[in-house]
Amino acid sequence: MPTETAKPKTRVAVLISGSGTNMASLIAAGQAADAPYEVVVVISNVADVAGLEKARAAGVEALTVEHKPFGKDREAHERVIDALLVERNVEVIALAGYMRLLTPWLVQKWAGRMVNIHPSLLPLYPGLNTHARAIEAGDAEAGCTVHVVTEGVDEGPALGQARVAILPGDDADTLAERVKAAEHALYPQTLAAFVARQGQAQP
Ligand code: GAR
Repeated sequence: MPTETAKPKTRVAVLISGSGTNMASLIAAGQAADAPYEVVVVISNVADVAGLEKARAAGVEALTVEHKPFGKDREAHERVIDALLVERNVEVIALAGYMRLLTPWLVQKWAGRMVNIHPSLLPLYPGLNTHARAIEAGDAEAGCTVHVVTEGVDEGPALGQARVAILPGDDADTLAERVKAAEHALYPQTLAAFVARQGQAQP
C-alpha cells in the first residue's frame, strides 16, 4: 500500500528589528508537527537584538544584515536580505516588528507572499505610536492586524484582526502589553491559515 506523504511545510523567514516576541510565537507554532509552515531563518536589520538570541535558542538560524552600511540605498540592503532568503528556499516572509520602510522592489518581488503584523485595528492608525494615538482619541478598543504587505505602508488587505479593550488608566505601555498578548495568538493562526490557502491554490 502506498503511504500518503505529508505535504512539506511552507518555508517562512521572519524579519525583525528588536525583541522578537511575535517572532518567538511564530517559531513555536511552526514547530508543531501539524503546522503548515516552519520558520527557517530570522533576519534582523539591527545587531545584537534580543530576538536573534530567542531564535537561536529555538534552533532557528538567526542572521544580522545591518542597514546602516547601506546609507540611503534601501534597495541594496534589501537585495542582500533577499539573496539570503532565496538561498534558503524561503517561500513566505513574515515581518514581525521589522521597523524599516520597504522599497517597491522588495514588495513587488514578494507580492502576495509577504505579511506583516501591525499594532492597531487598521485602517486606523497606520505608522508609529499607535497605542498613544488610540488612547488620545478616546477609543474604547485597540488591537492588532495581520495584513498582506503592499506598497502603501500598513495598507495591504487584512488577513485577521484581534481586539482588546482600552481600560481606564491605560497608558501606551500597558496597552502595548495587552495588544502584544493578542498579537502572539493572532499572528501564528493567521499565518497558518494564509499558507494553507496558498497551498490549496497551487496545482
Ligand atoms: C509589535 O507590537 C508589532 O505589532 C509592532 O512592533 C512590535 C514588535 O514587537 N510592529 C510595528 O509597529 C510595525 N509597524 P516584538 O519584536 O516583541 O514582536
